[in-house]
Formats: sequence, structure tokens, C-alpha cells
Amino acid sequence: MLTTVKSNEKVVPGFFEMEIEAKGLAKHAGPGQFFMLKVAFGTDPLLRRPLSIHRITSPDSLRFLYRESGRGTSILSKLVPGDQLDALGPLGNGFKVGKTVKHALIVGGGIGVAPLLCLTDHIAKERPDITPVVFIGGRDKDSVMCLDQFKELGIETHIRTEDGSIHKKGLITHSLEEYIDKYKKDGTGGWAIFSCGPTPMLRSVAAIANMNDIKCFTSLEAHMACGIGACLGCVIPLLDREHETQVYRKVCEDGPVFDSEEVLW
Ligand code: FES
Repeated sequence: MLTTVKSNEKVVPGFFEMEIEAKGLAKHAGPGQFFMLKVAFGTDPLLRRPLSIHRITSPDSLRFLYRESGRGTSILSKLVPGDQLDALGPLGNGFKVGKTVKHALIVGGGIGVAPLLCLTDHIAKERPDITPVVFIGGRDKDSVMCLDQFKELGIETHIRTEDGSIHKKGLITHSLEEYIDKYKKDGTGGWAIFSCGPTPMLRSVAAIANMNDIKCFTSLEAHMACGIGACLGCVIPLLDREHETQVYRKVCEDGPVFDSEEVLW
């Protein structure tokens, strides 16, 4: 679908936030889903870039938060309001907040925070019975984003940076462990963790969830060429727990969100 760029601004060095508009674009979109964006007309670059939905601002518009990390995203960062952009989506399964979830711990690292703000918006709107708690980690102050937006939603937010440039020094998984240890005395029934970020962080979050008997849903990244299940470029091995065998799944079509107990870390 052809969309129009409404805004495209640098939020911190190397990171941009873009809003696009197209009729009905966001009607069926949910947190954790993504779009495949064609950053230029013609065949160069040939492949679309997958970007997860950062915020759904209206039935006709949505936002992406992205890192400029290669030629495609560099081209994307130079688009200006009024430019046109071919967007394919929404794609993928997204985060599902089940009826049994009573307490949501939302854990993001670096650019992994992008879909988690969308998830938090969704919970605030659709599940006011849930009080989410957010944990954000990053290398330094520039890689910890969206703090003001979480604050605006009135959400308890824990922050850590690896270099200690803002807030506590260390890994955000330590804050997650501290929180769980402090509040788990009445049991962790109904708790769920939703995570997105670098693989080492996701692996640690999954281990913490497992140790504390908490369901954990994790959004995985993969190289995606098509985004629609056709190229098999994003296939990963997973554990089929029912049959205790290894199976292969497509991150773009079967994910990107998986039960962390199925992921072969
Ligand atoms: Fe082509 Fe997933 S990106 S099958």
C-alpha cells in the first residue's frame, strides 16, 4: 500500500521516529506486528526493510522507531513529510495479552523498546485491569528511549544503563530480578513477561521467567527478505514441547513473538 510520510525526525543520534499515513492502514494492526517498507522506488535497494510498529496514532496512521544501521534505513532517514512509501503489513502474530494475564512485566533493551510502547498503549486501552511495569536497558543514555512516553502513561519504569550514564549502572535483567524477588511472595500466578531486545538480554529474561514460573513472550529478530513466509530466509529451530522434538518456524509468519520456552537459546 502506498503511504505518505507525515514526519520523520531524529530522536537521539542514530535513531529516528517516522509517522506514516494511509487510509485504514492501522485498523487491523496490533502490538508486536511489523511492516515491510520499500525504502525507494525501483530495484535499488531491492529488499524491503522490516520495522515493528511503535505506536498506532489513528486508524489511518502509525509510527516506527528505527535505528539507522545500513543503506536501507539510511535512505529511510532522509525521507521528508509528503514523500511516498510503499508499506506491506501489518505482518506477524504480535503480542497477545491473554485473559489470564493480571500483571505484565515489559522488558526492552535498546531499539527493542519500539514495539513495547505499542504494547503498553494497547494494555492501557484494552486491559485497564492490568498494571504494567516497564524495564528498559541500554548501553548508554542515548540508547535508552521513550522514557517520557512511558511516564506520560503513568507507568512504573525501571531503567539501567551499562555505562551508568543515566539511572542505575548495570543490566536491566538485574532490575527485573530484584522486582520479582520483592513482589513474588504472594505467587506469580497471572504474571507474564513481554520482551524485545538483544538476544543475550532475551535469553536472560527467559531464564528468569523460567526460574520464577512466569510465562514469557519474546519478540525475535531475524533477517527478513520477504516478510510473508515465501523466501524461508527467517526460519529458526524451535522446540515442540508437546512432542519434544525440534521444529522449524518462520519468524515473519509464525512470529515474531514466541513463547520463550520454545526458543532454543
Ligand atoms: Fe521470507 Fe520469512 S522473511 S519467509
